[in-house]
Amino acid sequence: MSDRIDLAAFPRDFLWGTATAAYQIEGAVAEDGRSPSIWDTYSHTPGKVDGDDNGDVACDHYHRWREDIGLMRRLGTNAYRLSVAWPRVVPGGDGPVNPKGLAFYDELIDALLEAGITPFVTLYHWDLPQVLQDRGGWPERDTALAFADYASAVAERLGDRVTQWATLNEPLCSAWIGHLEGRMAPGLTDLTAAVRASYHLLLGHGLAVDAIRAAAPSAQVGIVTNLSTVHAATDRDEDVAAARRQDGHINRWWLDPVYGRGFPADMREVYGVELPEREGDLAKIAAPLDWHGLNYYMPSIVADDPSAPAPRVRSVRRLGVPRTGMDWEIDASGLETLLLRLTDEYPISRLYVTENGSAYPDVVRPDGTVDDPERTEYLEQHLAACASAVRKGAPLAGYFAWSLLDNFEWAYGYDKRFGLVHVDYETQKRTIKGTGHRYADIVRAHRGRARNAA
Ligand code: IFM
Repeated sequence: MSDRIDLAAFPRDFLWGTATAAYQIEGAVAEDGRSPSIWDTYSHTPGKVDGDDNGDVACDHYHRWREDIGLMRRLGTNAYRLSVAWPRVVPGGDGPVNPKGLAFYDELIDALLEAGITPFVTLYHWDLPQVLQDRGGWPERDTALAFADYASAVAERLGDRVTQWATLNEPLCSAWIGHLEGRMAPGLTDLTAAVRASYHLLLGHGLAVDAIRAAAPSAQVGIVTNLSTVHAATDRDEDVAAARRQDGHINRWWLDPVYGRGFPADMREVYGVELPEREGDLAKIAAPLDWHGLNYYMPSIVADDPSAPAPRVRSVRRLGVPRTGMDWEIDASGLETLLLRLTDEYPISRLYVTENGSAYPDVVRPDGTVDDPERTEYLEQHLAACASAVRKGAPLAGYFAWSLLDNFEWAYGYDKRFGLVHVDYETQKRTIKGTGHRYADIVRAHRGRARNAA
């Protein structure tokens, strides 16, 4: 066991998990009453996704979930973060619930609990029912209301067994990448639509918090945000100001309203878009939470770019630093910094790292194994950063590796492999990678330590 990870720092009941999302793994897009989502539409639009890949089959988890729970057991993990597909459960977007859609998750949850694995259920991981997009999608208030109704239906059915709920996954991606940059579904490049979408996503979050608690009184509810540390490319005043705007765009816009500070005034000015505010909304958005989920992958280095759309920055590629197969800079210290920032600046009493991981072009060797030392290095560095943050006071209660399986990596298709488990998409054969085995060792070592200390 590597000494670099201070395992003694983690609490005894620390959760060791893996994470996935419905559209990325389930497949079975036309089965049991599921309706198309915006990702079906987007991925079937030629040229939008590398290799024109789509989630039609993905990891076929819809049929192979028993085997996948078996993999979690082999890894020794005791938590699993999954997302529920809104178009399976409420195919019309709002209105009647599809019993078969709920039945799938019902059975899955039972089997997870049976295996001693705590489910963390995320209600929205980007797969908006296309019918709602046709009515305007997230830029429209009705989508937030429909989300709360859908959340209530899921909580009513699963809330007797599921205690940990997340409303949204990475709303930044839905709003900014989906509506401003156009690199994700629904593929718009419209600042007004993007800002309105951001507002209604957070309103939907707040409404869903109440809806979940009303349907499942023992529910513990959080939100999952992807955050990055932000660095100015140079110490020029313009670049320092650009870094401040980038921090507002990717971090503060998604935290301040959720924790009762309202939408950051400087960013409202940068966007120059009127928010579709109604009285009482801010209080709803700031519904008290039980925990916060941090997804961390990389830092953001920016310079001023007056010709770019809001927030008028451009990303700068630092030379001579290690990068993953996504070309994302590796900086584990950013994870520690963000955990401490959340702890110090926001009223958060429990934190999870709800995603963290790296993609590399893995190959199955002739002996059937997958050796991925760079991913193992990434994992160890980031777990060491978590331990250090805990030592400094971060109330970190669990870590979820992204991802359990190689899967559909959105606009990058299947080429980018984040899994602890390799998936051969031709045969659907699963192979635990070297990093998966290392993760299992770490989990076992921590458990052994916790047992001995008891
Ligand atoms: O695959 C995604 C996931 O869906 C959301 N967080 C980032 C991951 C890697 O890009």
